Amino acid sequence: MIELTPTLDELSSEALYMQLYRYIRDEIVAGRIPSNVRLPSIRRLSAHLSVSRTPVALAYDQLLAEGYIRSKPRSGFFAAELELPASIPSLHAGSRSIVSPSPPRAYHAPQDEPGRYDFGYGSIDLASFPLTKWRKLMNRCLLPENSRLLLYGDLQGEPELRKEIAAYLYQIRGVRCRPEQIVVGAGTYHSLDLLFQLLKKEITCLAVEKAVNDGMKALFKQFPFDYRPLRLESDGIRIEEVYASEAQAVYVTPSHQFPFGMTLSIGKRMKLLNWAKERQAYIIENDYDGEFRYSGRPIPSLQSLDDDGRVIYVGTFSKSLTPSFRISYLVLPPLLLEQFRLRRHSYDQLASPIFQKTLQLFMESGDFERHMRKMRSLYHKKHDALLQAIHHAFKDSADSIGAGSGLHVLLRIRNGMSESELVRTAKKEGVNVYPTSPYALKPEFAVPSTVLLGFGGLSIEDIHAGIDRLKQAWSGG
Ligand SMILES: Cc1ncc(COP(=O)(O)O)c(C=O)c1O
Repeated sequence: MIELTPTLDELSSEALYMQLYRYIRDEIVAGRIPSNVRLPSIRRLSAHLSVSRTPVALAYDQLLAEGYIRSKPRSGFFAAELELPASIPSLHAGSRSIVSPSPPRAYHAPQDEPGRYDFGYGSIDLASFPLTKWRKLMNRCLLPENSRLLLYGDLQGEPELRKEIAAYLYQIRGVRCRPEQIVVGAGTYHSLDLLFQLLKKEITCLAVEKAVNDGMKALFKQFPFDYRPLRLESDGIRIEEVYASEAQAVYVTPSHQFPFGMTLSIGKRMKLLNWAKERQAYIIENDYDGEFRYSGRPIPSLQSLDDDGRVIYVGTFSKSLTPSFRISYLVLPPLLLEQFRLRRHSYDQLASPIFQKTLQLFMESGDFERHMRKMRSLYHKKHDALLQAIHHAFKDSADSIGAGSGLHVLLRIRNGMSESELVRTAKKEGVNVYPTSPYALKPEFAVPSTVLLGFGGLSIEDIHAGIDRLKQAWSGG
C-alpha cells in the first residue's frame, strides 16, 4: 500500500473531493502510482489528510466510475492498468513535468538494451571483483566501534585513505606528494569540477586536447573559460600550439589520450613542463587508466617529473576497482592546496566515509595490490585477444588505434560505411560498439568511420565471438 500526500487547498473554490480526485488521477496517468498498487483505505486516507471520510469516498467513487481505479472485495482499491497513448497530454492546465522523460544517463553507463556483446567502455571485469573480501572489510566498517563513519567525514577525504593513496601513487605512477595534498572526490568530474572552481579565479584560457571524454565536455560548458583545442599527433599534443594558445592551463590525458589512446612522448612531457614553468601555468593531468600498460616500461606520470609544482594530478578508482564506488582524487600542488584550504567550506561533497574506510583497509591489507596485479594480467590478455580477433577478422581493412594500454581501442573500418552505419549494423547483429564523434570538441574534429571498443567487461570468448559478428555485420558495406 502506498501513502498519498496531495496538497489540498481548503480555501479553493474547487471542492476537496475534486482536488483529491484530480490528484490521484494524474498520479496514476503519469505512472507515479503504478498499476495494481493498492491505494490507502478511505478511513486511512481521511485520517492521514485530516479530512472527513466523505470527500475521500466521493473521490474514489469518481475514480472508480472513470476506470482509473478498481475495487476488490475485502482487499480495497487498486490503481487500474491503463492503456496510455505514447504521449500523455497534461490533464490539468499548468501541470508541467519538471522531470525530463528520460533522465540523463551517466556517461558510459550500460545501455538499456545491451546487445549480446557489449563493447561498452565503462565496464570492468565483474567476475574478478573481490566481493568476499570487500564485504568482509565493509562489515568491519559497520561495527559499532566504527559508528563515527556514519557521520560527515574529513572534507579533504579520510586521512588514512589519503595516506594509502599517496603511497600507491608513488609506487605505481611515480607521483610525489604528501597525503595532505590529496583531495578525495566522488568521481573524476566531481574532482575536476572542484578544481575548476579553484582555477576560475586564476585563469581565463584553457588549452585542451581536441577530443575529450563527454564528462569533460559537460564540464567545459559550465565554466566560461576560453578553450583552445590542441591537435593530436601520434605522440600527443603539439607543444607549439600550447605556446601559441596563450593559455594559463592545459588539460591532457598523457598516459592514454582519451579516446585516441596515444601516449605523450617523454620529449613532449619535458617541453610541456618547461612551458608551465616559464608561463607559471598549470598542467591538469588526467591519468584515468594509467595503471594499465601492456608493453614497454611504465611511463611515469607528468606529475612525477614536475619540480615546480605546476602539475595537478587527477585519478580515479573507476578502472582499477569499480566505477560504482565513485572515488577519485586530486593531487594539488602546494599553491592550489592553500587556495583549497582557504575555501574548503564550499566543497563538502565527498565520497562516503564508509566506502573510503573500506578502500583504505583494502589497500592497507595488500589486497588492492594483488587485485591490480591480477587485473593487469587479465586485461592484458583481453587486450591481446581483441587485437588478434580484429586482425583475423579484418586484415588490412581496419586499423586499431590506441592499443597498448587502458581498457579500450578505437577501430577504423574501411568498408565505405559511416560511423553511424557501423554502429547501427553492429547493433543489428547484437553487438554494441560506440561512436567516437561525440568526443570531438567540435564537429569538424570528428574522424570518419571510427568506433570505440571497450574490452574490460567482456570475456575472451565473447571478445572473439563479438568481433566475428562485427565481421558479418560490416562485410556487406
Ligand atoms: C578520460 C576519462 N577520465 C575519467 C574517467 C573515469 O571517470 P570517473 O572517475 O568519474 O568514473 C573516464 C571514464 O571512464 C574517462 O574516460
